[in-house]
Amino acid sequence: MDWEALRAAVRDCRRCILCEQRKQAVFGVGSATAPWLFVGEGPGADEDEQGEPFVGQAGKLLDGMLAALKLARGREVYIANVVKCRPPGNRVPAPEEAAACAAWLDRQIELVKPKLIVALGKTAAVRLTGAESSLASLRGKVYAYRGIPLVITYHPAYLLRNLPDKAKAWEDLLFARRTFAAA
Ligand code: URA
Repeated sequence: MDWEALRAAVRDCRRCILCEQRKQAVFGVGSATAPWLFVGEGPGADEDEQGEPFVGQAGKLLDGMLAALKLARGREVYIANVVKCRPPGNRVPAPEEAAACAAWLDRQIELVKPKLIVALGKTAAVRLTGAESSLASLRGKVYAYRGIPLVITYHPAYLLRNLPDKAKAWEDLLFARRTFAAA
């Protein structure tokens, strides 16, 4: 599937119940050849409204995290989510919803072919590594997703609620930058 076919398939997807309450599916944004790929959990209310990932409060923090790496949305970066449709009430997507959406994210990753993947939060970490443990214990290691190096850090929405952990996220970003440079 090329980008156009993939975008249409996601737009019209009815593979899980999340399609029932969405305003629109939120595909992903950024350079189609980005060396950095950030993966979040799923759209919230703002994203459901605007059709772009990470445009609400968490998105502002993500943009700040990107700026700290001297990266910017749309340049060298692609941003996608595990699920493309907003879970009602912003609940965590169910495993079967993440599984129903897996082919779409997998194809995005195949097409972008990033040099490094950064999983933002537990949902993305579990989906892309299969590792089931606390986020704190998953940080600081390099994983591989289909041969692509992958690192894990806190989700920006979590950081907004737990400001002291921002320092740890900063450590993770430095680790990501080193991993990227070595990849
Ligand atoms: N949180 C996410 O995980 N993704 C978004 O797109 C917005 C908020």
